[in-house]
Amino acid sequence: MITLGIETSCDETSCGLVNDRLQVLANQVYSQIPLHTPYGGVVPEIAARSHLEKIDPIVRAALAEAALDIAQMDQIAFTRGPGLLGPLLVGASFARALGRSLGKPVMGVNHLEGHLASAFLADPGLEPPLLCLIVSGGHTELVRVGEGLQYVLIGKTRDDAAGECFDKCGKILGLGYPAGPILSQRAESGNRRFVDFPRALDQRDNFEFSFSGLKSSMLRYVETQTPDFISAHEADLCASLETAIVEILVKKSIQALRSERLETLVVVGGVSANSYLRARMDAEAKKHGFRALFPDRKYSGDNGAMIAAIGQWRCNHGLSTADLEVRPSLRWV
Ligand code: KG4
Ligand code: ZN
Repeated sequence: MITLGIETSCDETSCGLVNDRLQVLANQVYSQIPLHTPYGGVVPEIAARSHLEKIDPIVRAALAEAALDIAQMDQIAFTRGPGLLGPLLVGASFARALGRSLGKPVMGVNHLEGHLASAFLADPGLEPPLLCLIVSGGHTELVRVGEGLQYVLIGKTRDDAAGECFDKCGKILGLGYPAGPILSQRAESGNRRFVDFPRALDQRDNFEFSFSGLKSSMLRYVETQTPDFISAHEADLCASLETAIVEILVKKSIQALRSERLETLVVVGGVSANSYLRARMDAEAKKHGFRALFPDRKYSGDNGAMIAAIGQWRCNHGLSTADLEVRPSLRWV
C-alpha cells in the first residue's frame, strides 16, 4: 500500500510517498523562503499563489523520484490545519480532486500530528505511549501520546514558540529569515556563558514555557551595546541564546518523562533539527535512563513524507479519518 502526502500549510510545497512499512519512497520539497525573504516573514497571499504554481510539478516530481504512476497510489493524505487559509486550501483542493479522479480515499490530517509521525519514519516500530516535544515556528508543546493516538497536553508555551524566539532574536541580530538555522550555526563557535539570559518558569513540575522574555532581553542587551561590540560578539550572543532555549526544553522534557512515567521522548518540528538540542537532549535522556528519538533532519521541517506517514500510520492502526475540511486554527490537543 502507498500513501501520497501533501503539505502546503505555510511556506513549503511538498509531496511525499510512504509505503505501509513506513518507508519513504519519495519526498519533494519546494521552499518558498527566497520569495518571503524581502519581507522578513511569510506573506500569506504570495505563499498561496506559489503553492498553486508548484503543487502539480512537486507531485509529479515525487512520483518520478519513486518511479511510480499516480494510479498506483492507494490513498491521499493532506494537511487540513493548522496553517494559513489560502495555502491550506490549495493543498486540500488538489488532494480532494486527485482522490476523486482516482477513486481513492482522501484523509485530511493535522499538521502537528504529521510532525509526530516524522518520528515514526525514524523508527517504524515505535509505538505509543510516549512523550512528544513539538518545537516549531508556531508551537512549543509537551504532549503525552497514548495508544490509539489519545493526546494529553502536559504543557505549552504561554507566548512565543521556541522557533519564533530563534527567529525574532535572529532578526534583532540582523541574521535574516528564518533565523533559527543561521543562528544555530553561528552559535557553534560562541561562548555559551557569555550572557546569562533568563530561564522563564524554571520551577520543578511546571511544564509551561515562556520565550517572549528572552526576545526582550536580547533586544535590551543589543540596545545597550555599541554595534561594533555586538558584531564582534555575534557568535557569543547566538550561543548564549541557543543555550537558554535548549536548557529549558531539555529540563522540562526530562521532568515530564519522569512525572508521566514514560520511557520514550520524541522531539519533532523544525527546531528539532538543532544540533545542540539533539546533543543535550540525548545526553540528558541517557543519563536518566530514557530514550530520546529525533526525526532524520530532512523530516524535521515541513514536508510531505510526514503527512503521508501519519495517514499511513492511522490506516495501519485502524484509525483512518475522513475529515476533509480545512481548519487554519485546528488544535492538536
Ligand atoms: O516545523 P517548521 O518547519 O514549520 C512550522 O510548522 O512552524 O519549523 C520552522 C521553525 C522556524 O522557526 C525555524 O527557524 C526553526 O524551525 N528552525 C531551527 C532550526 N532549523 C529550523 N531553529 C533552531 N535551530 C535549527 N537548526
Ligand atoms: Zn511544521
